[in-house]
Amino acid sequence: MDEGLKHSASAKEYMPMIPTFVTGIPTGKETGLYLAADLGGTNFRVCSIKLNGDHTHELKQSKFKIPLDLMKNSTADALFSYLAKKVEAFLDEHHKEYSANTNGSLKLGFTFSFPVDQTALNRGKLIRWTKGFDLPDCVNKDVVELLQTHIDLLGVKVDVVALANDTVGTLLSRAYSNNEAKTHANTVLGCIFGTGTNGAYFEKLSNISKLDLTTVPKGATGMVINTEWGSFDNTLKVLPKTKYDDIVDKETANQGYHLFEKRISGMFLGELLRVILIDLFERGFIFTELFESRRGSLPHRLSEPWLLDSEVLSYLQIDDSTDLKMSQLVLENHLRLPTTREERLVIQKITQVVSHRAAYLSSIPIAAIVGRVKDQYKNDDRNFEIGCDGSVVEFYPGFQEKILEAFNLINPLEGTNKKLSLKIAKDGSGVGAALCASVAI
Ligand code: BGC
Repeated sequence: MDEGLKHSASAKEYMPMIPTFVTGIPTGKETGLYLAADLGGTNFRVCSIKLNGDHTHELKQSKFKIPLDLMKNSTADALFSYLAKKVEAFLDEHHKEYSANTNGSLKLGFTFSFPVDQTALNRGKLIRWTKGFDLPDCVNKDVVELLQTHIDLLGVKVDVVALANDTVGTLLSRAYSNNEAKTHANTVLGCIFGTGTNGAYFEKLSNISKLDLTTVPKGATGMVINTEWGSFDNTLKVLPKTKYDDIVDKETANQGYHLFEKRISGMFLGELLRVILIDLFERGFIFTELFESRRGSLPHRLSEPWLLDSEVLSYLQIDDSTDLKMSQLVLENHLRLPTTREERLVIQKITQVVSHRAAYLSSIPIAAIVGRVKDQYKNDDRNFEIGCDGSVVEFYPGFQEKILEAFNLINPLEGTNKKLSLKIAKDGSGVGAALCASVAI
């Protein structure tokens, strides 16, 4: 983290540690109506958020599955024109008064959850794609400019005033809804464990040596940093490495990058299990009878990369039915894979090992950041909470408990009376982007 705060965000060997130009944490008193657009995984979401100024908000939202042919082998213009049209469609449906072009412009916060070299609250160039996106002509382009251009082409009255990573949104939105008088806790970190993984926290300005201080608003003492911890240890100095991690990395478009993420997040857990099973099969330990009965093939959902969804692992993880009958059904339904009892026992064990490693690794950046910021709060007796979002932390059975178990082993709060809790930040990206838009001038 220290090295990342000194070096450029695109250096492969350090964590990117991207300054976000967000210089304050919400108090819960913010008000107003804002739009948010969220691109970060398989869906594009557009929402409007009314901040009520009392830790609460109202939200309207539309969700669109991004067509696969816009995620790769396409162009930046094709993708951003699609996004702009969805913003227009959302306004037509929920805020006719703005689409009718009569009431001035709405401010939009753009949650764009990929590594971006940010130079202002509303400026940032894509460093590289992650999570299966691959549109080379978008790299190095300003993503706010791209979205604004395509919105303007449609004649829609929307100003893209802020760019935020989903972790920044999660941090701000949890801080907004956290009523400290009731929770007796400060929100110190926003993190995502979903398709990808990442975290954001508030750092003292004096520690961000790569930042040009003339670009920072007067009076600011710190800034939210988007750590991009998915890129922790890309040179594999300390991370555990198995041959399966290598195989999965080679299958990705961003090979050699985000190696931490590739051990943890939802996009990769299923693929890790799949490549392990294929290895066991190739070594003659499982699926031999099945292979013969199918005259020399395995079901294609098992033999082809990326078709084993991590949702499947979440069912296998906790199956305690006799002979793992529930897993039998899940494997047949999702993968068309008939199994013997012995095979299911093996599959369940591997599932638990893959997810256990993921959860234990997940606690490491959390503990590192908590240990790092605890000094900022040494005269404040409140506990620490972290805002989290993402399908893995929200739905994977036992994931949160395992993170906390490992956190307590590391014990970065030793010597204080503080405790840590994980809080799911509902609507995190949307509300967070609205909060970013609310501070934009
Ligand atoms: C991206 C981050 C994002 C995280 C969670 C990672 O792949 O690089 O920017 O915050 O996924 O969505």
